[in-house]
Amino acid sequence: MSKLIVLNMKMYMDIDDVKDYISSIEKVPDNVIFCPESIYIPYFLEKYNNIAIQSIYPVDQGAYTGCVSAKQVKKMGVNYTIVGHSECRKYFNVTDKDVNLKIKSALNNNLKVILCIGDSKDEKDRNKTFESLKRQLDIGLEGIKSNDIIVAYEPIYSIGTGVIPIYDEIKDTIEFIKNELKNKDMSLPVIYGGSVNKDNIGSLNKIDNVDGFMIGGASAHIDQVKRIIEVVNK
Ligand code: PGA
Repeated sequence: MSKLIVLNMKMYMDIDDVKDYISSIEKVPDNVIFCPESIYIPYFLEKYNNIAIQSIYPVDQGAYTGCVSAKQVKKMGVNYTIVGHSECRKYFNVTDKDVNLKIKSALNNNLKVILCIGDSKDEKDRNKTFESLKRQLDIGLEGIKSNDIIVAYEPIYSIGTGVIPIYDEIKDTIEFIKNELKNKDMSLPVIYGGSVNKDNIGSLNKIDNVDGFMIGGASAHIDQVKRIIEVVNK
């Protein structure tokens, strides 16, 4: 299977950028998943097959101002949702328990999940990386058994910073996550995210147990996206 390329556009683009992006990036291979801001999803749906919403509220419908549900986006043709991105955990206080509810809501509505987990610099320095990731997996995936989940390992200190763990560390951490999943009887793709761009994708792509990449900052730049797709799919 080709490695996954998850393009997390966060809140980087305005409508002019979106129109430019869509007209410049023609057909993409099936391993590419676009995660535009929710207001731009209809534009992306017109052109591409794999679209993720960046976050969902874990209730199908009701009095929840400012929220969007899995049920609503699924009906529009969206097929994935990101859950538990570290920015949502930090700015919107999303907890591991919330992550669990969001995953259940997504799966109940046949939306595939991109589950983000990661360690902080402090946890890494105190040798608590595995403990932290295990907790995020144990609570986040409690009562869940599904193949419709992609796990994204994103060290928090690597997001938007240009700081990437040494490749052996990435490899060991991905292996740890895969073993934890195995203990839960699940075999899921595990991808890496954090400061991935067109210049480092060639070397990151050589880490043999990484099943793909989640790309933030670089995903909003047409030249970066084209090059990353080219390198991963060559
Ligand atoms: P970055 O973000 O590529 O800008 O580091 C990755 C992410 O947050 O998914």
